[in-house]
Amino acid sequence: MIVFNYYTPTEVVFGKNSEQQIAALVKKYGGKKLLLHYGGKSAERSGLLDVVRQQLKEAGIPFVELGGVVPNPLLSKVREGIALCQQEGVDFLLAVGGGSVIDSCKAIAYGLAYEGDVWDLFVGKAEPQAAYPVGCVLTIPAAGSEMSTGCVITNEEGALKRSCDGNLGRCRFAVMNPERTFTLPPFQTACGITDMMMHTLERYFSKEDDMTLTDNVAEAILRTVKELAPVVLQNPTDYRSRAQIMWAGSLAHNDLTGCGMSGDWSTHQLEHELSGMFGVAHGAGLAAVWPSWARYVCPTNVSRFVRLAVNVMGVANDFTDPEGTALRGIAAMEQFFHSIGMPVTIHELIGREIKDEEIVEMARKCSNNGSSCIGGFKTLNQDDMEKIYRMAK
Ligand code: NZQ
Ligand code: ZN
Repeated sequence: MIVFNYYTPTEVVFGKNSEQQIAALVKKYGGKKLLLHYGGKSAERSGLLDVVRQQLKEAGIPFVELGGVVPNPLLSKVREGIALCQQEGVDFLLAVGGGSVIDSCKAIAYGLAYEGDVWDLFVGKAEPQAAYPVGCVLTIPAAGSEMSTGCVITNEEGALKRSCDGNLGRCRFAVMNPERTFTLPPFQTACGITDMMMHTLERYFSKEDDMTLTDNVAEAILRTVKELAPVVLQNPTDYRSRAQIMWAGSLAHNDLTGCGMSGDWSTHQLEHELSGMFGVAHGAGLAAVWPSWARYVCPTNVSRFVRLAVNVMGVANDFTDPEGTALRGIAAMEQFFHSIGMPVTIHELIGREIKDEEIVEMARKCSNNGSSCIGGFKTLNQDDMEKIYRMAK
């Protein structure tokens, strides 16, 4: 067990009609003039944006709007948001959407409190010292940004997808009404489920394996999500199942499953190069990489993979053949991804065979030109990264 500091300051307002509390929450956290930030058309179509606008108007909270955040949110939109907020004297940011909108909001919040170019904070040129307050109304359980320290932005120049992490990036509040996820298409539902499972697995596969309580919490999240995934795919308006999955998405990334664990995060870093280069959905990219990562690193600690196989994937434990049990667990995870419509290879992900020069380029970027390694469970260098991409192709 490593020494840990568990800090989860986001106020969560969860359940039916939770949107009715938005204006009160904005006031509670000191918002006087708001940026209302959102994505494409989903929140407009569902009527959620109108509910939010109505709430703010009735409470007398002035606001300006900026929509059009795309999945894998772009630096250009962040810059547009910073300029708009400066011009309008905005002091509070409200994201209505998923991880992309929330992250775009967080980046604007960082940029408003930083004198230089906001991208500096994503490439390690400067450390954020402050951020404007952000609240969110979550519409897709997936990235966990509503309670996480993360903020991931893509710079169109060079297709570089990079994150800025830290407690300054925590939302003040997160409003979560599972009914708002009823409109999610099956593909987005499945991408979200994959992402939250991966947030749990990235911590589960740590160097430390003496955190029984943390492991049990992680396995409960994985089992719950795995069991309910087919239910919501078949019946998108099943409130009870949508609610469990929504809450699982937050618990998977608010560090609860990381207490005492140092984590791995290789699959995420390998995936960020894929979504940076090909613009694919993050969850789908993770599913395309994880099985190959798992097979590659499995010999590092076979018993950890056996535990996953038996406790989560329901594989019978063959005590005479731990490697076999571990590999059957990975295959079972692969089958699960397929069963919910996720790709398990890069070919399935991008719809064509990946070129070798693209693999080399992704590994180059992921390793910062060969100067850095990734992974905690097993450390991976540029050569390892290329091998995993090739296994996944
Ligand atoms: O743009 P709209 O029209 O709203 O459509 C969105 C979008 O196309 C749609 N959608 C969202 N809620 C909906 C809905 N459609 C119908 N009904 C609803 N209720 O879903 C699509 C995907 O939305 P997006 O916000 O992109 O999904 P997600 O939450 O998965 O966010 C992905 C982004 O988060 C980053 C990813 O890399 C990616 O850029 N991540 C952020 C993390 C963090 N901040 O901690 C951690 C993650 O590992 C991840 O890297
Ligand atoms: Zn993720």
